[in-house]
Amino acid sequence: MSRIELLKHLEADALDIEIRYLEWADHRARCPLEKVDEASSTPGMDPSSYAAMAPSGEDLYIAWRHDDVAQVMRDAEHFMKPGPPWRKTKTLLSMNGDEHRHYRQVLEDALSPRAMAEVEASIISPIMNRLIDGFATRGHADLVEEFTSHFPFHVIRTMIGFDERDHDEFIGLAYPGAGGLNAEWEGRVAEFLAPRVEAARAEPGDDLLGLLVRAEVDGHPLSDEELYQYLLLLIPAGADTTFAGTSNLLAGLLLHPDQFDLVRGDDGLVPRAVDEALRWQNPAATSFLRRAIEETEVAGTVVTPGTTICAHLSSHNRDETKYEAPDAFCVTRPRPPRGIFGYGPHACLGKHLARAEMRTALRLLLRRLPNLRLDPDFPRPIIRAVGFASPASLHVLFDPAT
Ligand code: HEM
Repeated sequence: MSRIELLKHLEADALDIEIRYLEWADHRARCPLEKVDEASSTPGMDPSSYAAMAPSGEDLYIAWRHDDVAQVMRDAEHFMKPGPPWRKTKTLLSMNGDEHRHYRQVLEDALSPRAMAEVEASIISPIMNRLIDGFATRGHADLVEEFTSHFPFHVIRTMIGFDERDHDEFIGLAYPGAGGLNAEWEGRVAEFLAPRVEAARAEPGDDLLGLLVRAEVDGHPLSDEELYQYLLLLIPAGADTTFAGTSNLLAGLLLHPDQFDLVRGDDGLVPRAVDEALRWQNPAATSFLRRAIEETEVAGTVVTPGTTICAHLSSHNRDETKYEAPDAFCVTRPRPPRGIFGYGPHACLGKHLARAEMRTALRLLLRRLPNLRLDPDFPRPIIRAVGFASPASLHVLFDPAT
């Protein structure tokens, strides 16, 4: 079942994410570095997944406050990033030090701000315009159903270099289904990739797959296995995130018409609105793991090697010591939000792509759907957490194109 189907299915029961934010505020105030044990019912932590997060016998903590989260994610001298335990081979997500830096460099240029200007013109805008063509003359639409749940998959598929005919199969892989990202899913992805990687090796294209087959790390070309690992990373990282992020950006503006009017009147506020939406409702997983490799101190607690810390990025985004009225969606905050794409050597590699997609989506919708507003005949959208956090629908009205 895709995430949008899940969101709709669970709409009635799933928790409004704002309730979680209230609980997280309570943790920030009471226990900034909180020890988790199997009996704990800490919000945002599933006690059954405890064993998978921390090596047996080692401590597990959650860091809730802004500065502690930033410290733990940024400090590669005292912390390393552990990989998902089910993954047979390494990806960037579980590499550290020089190995991580060398592998990350392979994609850095292709995802740089300069490269994104070209991607925006040649891939992002045409894909979005085509989708908007489908409803611009109608005067009403569900922007989740018809827009945000589609464009990120087309964009990342096109950037990798997979054909439009592969789209349905590609979506099936981007949504791993009930089992989540596991070894069985990796096997299905490898089956999909094998013939396409072979074709790209024979005739490399001008796309990410072509770049990967030509790439060398430490003087060696990437093996098929290494190549699969990059693609396995890009497929989920590059699609669901911007789907949820753009839905949340639009929800923020539609639910706060005063803020929407400010952005309508000043194109310079579009990038600010994007970053504020990612602070207010960060779609990415709420927390990111780090494991101590050297003794250090976090929030006044001595952390010994082997200890795992969940750096709670969503709680960090609403820290009242950093942001005035942190629960408000406000596009004119005096200082732009920090850390919305993480910190340190593992900070998001796709952040320029994500921002380019979200900015372009907003600009095109503003230009092509005049008088865009929520449709009062539908319930107000609620952001709920099903994997990532986003609304299941965004029913809107606008002046139809003639
Ligand atoms: C709004 C959208 C997005 C958000 C909020 C987001 C957030 C994040 C965060 C917080 C991390 C850091 C994880 C950690 O330090 O443990 C990360 C890593 C990463 N992201 Fe994103 N991301 C987004 C979109 C994308 C896109 C579009 C791509 C596609 C290229 C992408 C690719 C990656 C990769 C490859 C990493 C791993 C980097 C590394 O370990 O060196 N992300 N993302």
